[in-house]
Amino acid sequence: MEIQYLLASIFLVVGILIYSLKSKFEKSRQNSKPQEVKTDPGKKINCQEQLIPISIYFGTQQGTAARFAKQLSEEGKEHGFLTTEVDLNEVEFDQEMKKGKFGIFCMATHGEGDPTDNAKKFISWLQEPQLSLKDFNFTVFGLGNRQYEHYNKIGRLTNNLLEKQNAIRFYKYGEGDANSTLEDDFIDWKKDLWNVLKELIHPTPQSSTFKLVKSNKEEINFDQTLQGQFQYQTKQFLKAKYCQVVSITQLRQNQQDGSTLQIIFDTGREGIEYKTAMNLGVYPENNDEQILEIANYLGENLKTIYTLELLEETNKAKLPFPSPLSVKKILKHFLDFNGQLMKNTLTKLAKISIDDEKVRNYLLHLTTEEGKKEFQQMVDEQKTTIFQLIQRNNIKLNLAQFIELCPRISPRLFTIASSNIKSPQQLEIADSLLIDDLSDGTQKIGLCSQYFLNIQQRLLQGESVKVRVDFRESNFKLPDDPNKSIIMIGPGTGIAPFIGFLQEREIFLQNQAQKQNEYILYFGCKHENGDFIYKDQLREFQRRKIIDKFYTAFSRDQEKKIYVQDLLKHNSEELFNLIINDKVVIYICGSTNMGNSVQHLIKEILIKYSNWSEHEAEERIENMQKQKFLIKELW
Ligand SMILES: Cc1cc2nc3c(=O)[nH]c(=O)nc-3n(C[C@H](O)[C@H](O)[C@H](O)COP(=O)(O)OP(=O)(O)OC[C@H]3O[C@@H](n4cnc5c(N)ncnc54)[C@H](O)[C@@H]3O)c2cc1C
Ligand SMILES: Cc1cc2nc3c(=O)[nH]c(=O)nc-3n(C[C@H](O)[C@H](O)[C@H](O)COP(=O)(O)O)c2cc1C
Repeated sequence: MEIQYLLASIFLVVGILIYSLKSKFEKSRQNSKPQEVKTDPGKKINCQEQLIPISIYFGTQQGTAARFAKQLSEEGKEHGFLTTEVDLNEVEFDQEMKKGKFGIFCMATHGEGDPTDNAKKFISWLQEPQLSLKDFNFTVFGLGNRQYEHYNKIGRLTNNLLEKQNAIRFYKYGEGDANSTLEDDFIDWKKDLWNVLKELIHPTPQSSTFKLVKSNKEEINFDQTLQGQFQYQTKQFLKAKYCQVVSITQLRQNQQDGSTLQIIFDTGREGIEYKTAMNLGVYPENNDEQILEIANYLGENLKTIYTLELLEETNKAKLPFPSPLSVKKILKHFLDFNGQLMKNTLTKLAKISIDDEKVRNYLLHLTTEEGKKEFQQMVDEQKTTIFQLIQRNNIKLNLAQFIELCPRISPRLFTIASSNIKSPQQLEIADSLLIDDLSDGTQKIGLCSQYFLNIQQRLLQGESVKVRVDFRESNFKLPDDPNKSIIMIGPGTGIAPFIGFLQEREIFLQNQAQKQNEYILYFGCKHENGDFIYKDQLREFQRRKIIDKFYTAFSRDQEKKIYVQDLLKHNSEELFNLIINDKVVIYICGSTNMGNSVQHLIKEILIKYSNWSEHEAEERIENMQKQKFLIKELW
């Protein structure tokens, strides 16, 4: 009997323990991911006569969130709502959100769980005490990538902060993973969005966009500051500046495994200022042959000049770009007809193909579960472009429809590979060309890769060439404390920011007799005599002791592959001592996979030498990141 009582009490205690642990776990899970909240039925707004605007705010670095916002804005109009996509950088938050209305947020996460540049002001405004946004109705879709440690941190933070400020979420929070299923996650999330909104506000049918009118005026010049440049979807492009290209040369010893171009720009001539290790945004152009082919297909002459006019006074939609503009410039600068196919494009094309039932059904089939495999093959193995799809299916469309169909060209980012202190007049990047082998045996060259290859040819023919560029801040800054050593881990083009760092150290050491710290560099590539970019420059830095320790991993020069991680593992004790004594800043630059495995290794080293638990090691790494002692730039 006594044993039965004892067993019963043990079960009871274990039961309570399991229950409390489980609810603790659930709680922490809820904290990390916002819960779905049902529409608040009390929020119905009576607005038969009044048009309620819905702003689709976006926080974007490379354009995806802006594309999603544009898509929502177009869909909203089709459902009869007054929707406008809005760059978060251009919002008077107090004016817009305190007064109350409807906002849909598309928020990308960048850096290491950071807001995108255009969303920084907004996120810090949201953290002010007591904004009282009780009349503001919102929902959020986060864009992130599971390969990064702080998955969708900004989407989640936006959602949580808005709720904390008493704004009303009218539709569930959603998020997507750019590593795999981003567009499907987005489609899944927005399934009920418009129906939920229809429950809350009455739509009024709107005409959607713009019309093209032939013009005999002169076309606009992008070199001049354009009036009202913020009113266009391509505002970023319009704000960027042209910069002269000085030279484009090969950085590899041979091109057996690919090609990396050294591209030098003349910043002095344009009066452009930059900082070491910043990101350069490059706006690539479509190539002339393709532009001509498309113009012919659309029945347009490249020289024809059009103005774009919004169709409705009440329609606050942004025009895609300023005008008057020639067909040539429209096709060259703004329309991305080479990029990855999106299901949204198939749906739009199906609408255009209204008269051809077979084509329409085929396009719609590709957007369904049954067509998923075929669609994925088109994207992954054939890398089919919008224009190829149109041509193959003989779809008839006009220029205005083509402009609506294509996404806008996004800037490509490059980590600057020179120091502004050493060469303020010239800036340099290292571009590893993106060339994919397709299933039919042909190759597809990336848009920007092709753009620079074309410029290289034009320079060889003596042409003077300018490229449209802008600049983005980076987390890569040298430590203020001169006693801190730095470890630079940068295989492949990940070496770029460290070239700038080393150039700066060269100048510093010229003025300073005594070294106070160490510069340690880890570099890797396939072959010492193949893709070892900046080889001579780096060896010279090593010879002159500007680099104190230089570790190289040539993965394919011996039977067993060696990567930078293996070299770090070999030097784990040195690494541990520097970390534990707070004597080092570690920079990691290059591919996301490499960066993640290096960080994983650092955790293992901390566990091995300190006897910390995994959790303690993770905490230490998180602290290092917060204090900017561990900084990553991965792509
Ligand atoms: C912060 C940051 C710093 C960077 N720094 C550097 C640097 O210093 N050096 C450097 O070389 N690169 C750097 N990059 C990468 C660089 O920005 C570009 O992504 C790269 O140069 C490729 O550009 P692209 O236009 O040639 O390729 P894209 O045309 O943009 O192609 C990119 C990828 O999309 C896929 N794709 C394209 N079209 C299709 C299609 N129709 N169907 C299916 N898939 C398609 C391709 O498979 C390809 O892999 C950096 C990126 C970031 C984010
Ligand atoms: C340099 C860089 C850093 C990133 N950091 C994160 C991150 O910390 N967390 C995350 O979830 N996604 C991260 N991402 C993934 C982006 O959020 C994702 O690709 C998104 O679709 C980009 O949207 P955008 O094109 O609008 O900027 C990062 C992407 C890049 C290129």
